[in-house]
Amino acid sequence: MQVEGGRNTAERSRWLDRVQPSALAVPDSGIVEIFNYGRNREGVIPLWVGESDQPTPSFISAAAIRSLEAGETFYTYQRGIPALREAIARDMTALYGPREAFSPERFFVTIGGMHALQIAMRIVGGPGDEFLVPTPAWPNFGGAIMALGARVVETPMRLGSGVHPRWSLDMAALEAAVNPATRAIVINSPSNPLGWTATLEELEAVLRFARRHGLWIIADEIYGRFTFDAVRAPSFHDIMAADDLILFPQTFSKNWAMTGWRIGWLEAPEALGQLIENLVQYSTSGVAVPSQRAALAAIEGGADFVAEQVRRARQNRDMLCAAFEATGRMRFAAPDGGFYLFCGIEGYPDARRLAFRLVDEAGIGAAPGDAFGAAGAGSLRLCFARSPAQIAEVADRLTTWVARNA
Ligand SMILES: Cc1ncc(COP(=O)(O)O)c(C=O)c1O
Repeated sequence: MQVEGGRNTAERSRWLDRVQPSALAVPDSGIVEIFNYGRNREGVIPLWVGESDQPTPSFISAAAIRSLEAGETFYTYQRGIPALREAIARDMTALYGPREAFSPERFFVTIGGMHALQIAMRIVGGPGDEFLVPTPAWPNFGGAIMALGARVVETPMRLGSGVHPRWSLDMAALEAAVNPATRAIVINSPSNPLGWTATLEELEAVLRFARRHGLWIIADEIYGRFTFDAVRAPSFHDIMAADDLILFPQTFSKNWAMTGWRIGWLEAPEALGQLIENLVQYSTSGVAVPSQRAALAAIEGGADFVAEQVRRARQNRDMLCAAFEATGRMRFAAPDGGFYLFCGIEGYPDARRLAFRLVDEAGIGAAPGDAFGAAGAGSLRLCFARSPAQIAEVADRLTTWVARNA
């Protein structure tokens, strides 16, 4: 075994020695480890990955099938088919208007939110540059920044105290982190993994900060419709001026249960249109037309589906919060949006070990908080975009485990 391991190590380093440092810097996902450990365990309720348990509604899939049958199998517009860009503009105007109508020229169809994010980061930074990322944060922000050869500067968010604490940005820490290499700040609201939803005042503070330092804002508002007390979350759209340096990655993945389709969009100033078209051309060369037809069906006919998903998320949020609060031993801020609960259990500071134990002893698949940055240590992320019956079972299993392991 030793010899075999040694040979593998030598073989691995022979290849890795020839790899670009920026590619080597890209970290393994801290979520995948626990997912691989428990994915085939019978009876485990999987809350580790950020997606709904619902399949894509059939009226959406049917649009893709019709497109394939009609022979839409050729190369297409790099920016996305006009009908989809127009529909996105209409939908954005309905949701974020009436300040001013959105032009379809602001929207660029991408391979999921992840590709939109990658293009956004590629536009604003490169090797040696720094991106400010308030954490705990979705690990892909950091991974994409590192893949560019740029640096991630984590600024920990603050969790308030009391029975109903709230997360907030530490503006002083952000100020202190700015230096000549800083290019951008990533703001994700509602947040994965926290459910923190920035107030307009918080967004205004970030905008003032970014303007003062000439920074870009990468505004990830993909969970903007998953809010529990309003139709949508506060947005930079509510306060920005036309010349503010803001890019918005977006996705069809979460609202319409389309994670596997890999389709999203980037919203950016029209003046960057040709540049973004070029970046699409030389990375993916566009998005499959049948996926775009499906996305069009989703955005035009999917309002009821989204409303039902949000209703379910609210019900699940309330159920988990009530059950966890009753233990008296769990620490968390009730999420205002998104579909994640970020929580710790008193007496269990090692979240990675805790996550493994919960798979074995409670049949619950949770993501360890360390995966979301140093500020996430000691917590777990639970994705509650599942049936209320399953979430009731999770509440029961976890509270029973906590009572037994007091
Ligand atoms: C905050 C955030 N942004 C962007 C994405 C990207 O989604 P996708 O690439 O699946 O479209 C995700 C997915 O988990 C996310 O949580």
